[in-house]
Amino acid sequence: KRVVILISGRGSNMNALIEATGDPAYPAEIVGVIADNADAKGLSVAAAQDIETVAITKADHADKAAMDEALDAKLKELRADIVCLAGYMRLLSPAFTEKWAGRLINIHPSLLPLFKGLDTHERALKEGMRIHGCSVHFVTAEMDGGPIIAQAAVPILPNDDADTLAARVLGVEHQLYPLALRLVAEGKARMENGRAVLSGVG
Ligand code: GRF
Repeated sequence: KRVVILISGRGSNMNALIEATGDPAYPAEIVGVIADNADAKGLSVAAAQDIETVAITKADHADKAAMDEALDAKLKELRADIVCLAGYMRLLSPAFTEKWAGRLINIHPSLLPLFKGLDTHERALKEGMRIHGCSVHFVTAEMDGGPIIAQAAVPILPNDDADTLAARVLGVEHQLYPLALRLVAEGKARMENGRAVLSGVG
């Protein structure tokens, strides 16, 4: 399966996916990386590994719809089968998420449905949670609301602050995302009637 990754920043999850797909037995290959800003660090990292990169930015487009259309056109040109959002900080339009339904996934740094949105680590600490984690989900029009494919949990320790907790979560994100993408690429995780259906995973 041909995978395109969308990023906004450093792209550490992108790196984890590039690493995992480097295994010839892995059922997907990264055929492109798209950033919403030209100075996203991940672009140069991907380019250095001979992966096609492009910035599709708000500044270059009249409005959000035009930007999403440009994204869609680029994804078609790259013949993307699956799109992975990885630290992509923009909301995609309902038209886009409907068109790519079932082939568009995202990683979010919380145990959804808890803590949708931003500042998830601060919020988990503030609520006195004892576990936290990350979720990979199909993307729908509802921000961080799509059907969950896979999750990983980490403990919240007494001396944690947002940075130590974020680092612990990020470590398991890098393990979870390649696992979740594999399930989607193998057809073992599918979106049906708005739900994530898993099969052949024991
Ligand atoms: C990560 O916490 C990820 O969960 C969220 O964006 C953050 C940065 O990701 N989506 P990355 O290092 O750019 O992959």
